[in-house]
Amino acid sequence: MHPTPARSDARSVYVREMFAQIAPRYDAANRVLTAGLDERWRRRAIALLTPPSGGRVLDLCCGTGDVVLHLLRSDPTLDVTGVDFCAPMLEAARRRALRAGRSSATFVEGDVTQLPFAENSFDGATMGFSLRNVVDLDGVLREVLRVLRPGARFVNLDVSKPKNALWRRCFGLYFYGVVPLVGGIVGGSRQAYAYLPSSLTHHPDATHLRERFERAGFEAAQCIPLVGGAIAIHVGTKPETSA
Ligand SMILES: C[S@@+](CC[C@H](N)C(=O)[O-])C[C@H]1O[C@@H](n2cnc3c(N)ncnc32)[C@H](O)[C@@H]1O
Repeated sequence: MHPTPARSDARSVYVREMFAQIAPRYDAANRVLTAGLDERWRRRAIALLTPPSGGRVLDLCCGTGDVVLHLLRSDPTLDVTGVDFCAPMLEAARRRALRAGRSSATFVEGDVTQLPFAENSFDGATMGFSLRNVVDLDGVLREVLRVLRPGARFVNLDVSKPKNALWRRCFGLYFYGVVPLVGGIVGGSRQAYAYLPSSLTHHPDATHLRERFERAGFEAAQCIPLVGGAIAIHVGTKPETSA
């Protein structure tokens, strides 16, 4: 494994500093903003990964380690690595993993558009609530494909755009209005929680994101909408022929 320097473009630096600022209260803000449902959505997503027992799994943009801990709870034999470019988020993840008795989890500082791992080295990859924050979406998909073993899956869980116009409007009021306000109070930064919803604005909708998975080279790409499409799980498989 070779550490790679984090991207230094202005948006990446902004995103990294923003997460450093909200790291101490990130988990509390998530629970409040989703009424605890975020944990249920993570479990739904992880159930779709189906890595082999003892397999090696990569969690991209691991943040404070939520997905990593769920993976290890679902199968303690897994060899799970979390990667993130924000040091304070990783520190929080390491502390949580120790407290939870999951010292086998590995946390690596790195940029998901230049993963510091060899090709064909993971039996599955996950990503939670992060793809819309990453500057180069197609670059991430390319990198995930590179490090996955043929036949392995990538499962991505994120906020999305409901198809139903009325529900999209209601969700928009919550996401663009309530989240900055409540996130600002609980998470400690109004600015950060105003940025996070705006990162959805230019993110592809669920159908287009599935197409981007296919264009990147994933096969059997599918999208599972949750909460009327406000949340979406995308799954793609690395083709067996791409060793
Ligand atoms: C909203 S948090 C999600 C954390 C966690 N996956 C979860 O489910 O709660 C987004 C994370 O993505 C990380 N991130 C954003 N862009 C990144 C990049 N290019 N490389 C590595 N990490 C990145 C941030 O540092 C932050 O920890």
